[in-house]
Amino acid sequence: MEEKIKEKMKNIKYKLLVLSGKGGVGKTSVAVNLSYALALKNFKTGILDIDIHGPNVAKMLGVEGKRLTVSDNEIEPYQVLPNLKVVSMAFLLEKSETPVIWRGPLKMKAISQFLGDTKWGDLDFLIIDSPPGTGDEPLTICQLIPGITGSIIVTTPQEISLLDVRKTIRFSEKLNVPVIGIIENMSYLKCPKCGYKILLFGEGGGKKLEEEFGIELLGQIPFEPEISKNADIGKPFFNSEGESAKIFRDIVEKILKKINVSTV
Ligand SMILES: Nc1ncnc2c1ncn2[C@@H]1O[C@H](COP(=O)(O)OP(=O)(O)OP(=O)(O)O)[C@@H](O)[C@H]1O
Ligand SMILES: [Mg+2]
Ligand SMILES: [Zn+2]
Repeated sequence: MEEKIKEKMKNIKYKLLVLSGKGGVGKTSVAVNLSYALALKNFKTGILDIDIHGPNVAKMLGVEGKRLTVSDNEIEPYQVLPNLKVVSMAFLLEKSETPVIWRGPLKMKAISQFLGDTKWGDLDFLIIDSPPGTGDEPLTICQLIPGITGSIIVTTPQEISLLDVRKTIRFSEKLNVPVIGIIENMSYLKCPKCGYKILLFGEGGGKKLEEEFGIELLGQIPFEPEISKNADIGKPFFNSEGESAKIFRDIVEKILKKINVSTV
């Protein structure tokens, strides 16, 4: 299987892994919006959801309940846009099914099968969304995919979240996956009446990490009710009018610059 994975991954130029220390900080939102943004920039993009316990990518892309098809014994990714393909564990589960409880080896087997058997074809980008922390899923991915371009770490400014982020940074570096940058999410809530910034989870977390590890803080995304509202109806937010959308588009540019990709 490992040889097969290597062969397949050769046809994908850049592989980016989205990680976080804590849960619910916005990894999937980042992964989905980044993939969508890249696809609209004419990059051939794939998004792989390896979160077996709570696969949300399909929901945020508005393709929940879709099924993957198999041809020539290989999994065909679901085409969301002309340049955007998705493979999610959610496609393997029935809607009514409760979250799967899989032990480590089974998870590794499932992920490795996904990687070996999916017909991504030629891609510019593969964005991989993982569950929080440094568990079996991201570990398996880092071990199975040779030459991951880098990881993007999502955090809130909160202290506990930051403690876990330190662990995640070390994890990534230890596995030879360079950290491209940190995205601070839910940094503040702007009062719609007067513009006052309410700091929901404290202040300065991302900056502190930047100083401590020399890893770039790619941006600070405010908390905007629009983001979760859009996510619930399967719409990305990066191409909307809000402040968070503009900040997100800047983040995408920074990521491209960081990995030396020029837009066409
Ligand atoms: N900046 C934001 N403003 C408002 N809501 C947000 C923001 N970022 C994320 N959300 C919402 O918060 C929830 C959690 O986000 P998301 O699913 O992206 O986090 P996650 O890190 O992938 O979570 P998990 O660890 O469970 O995989 C979602 O409902 C999402 O729409
Ligand atoms: Mg998620
Ligand atoms: Zn106000």
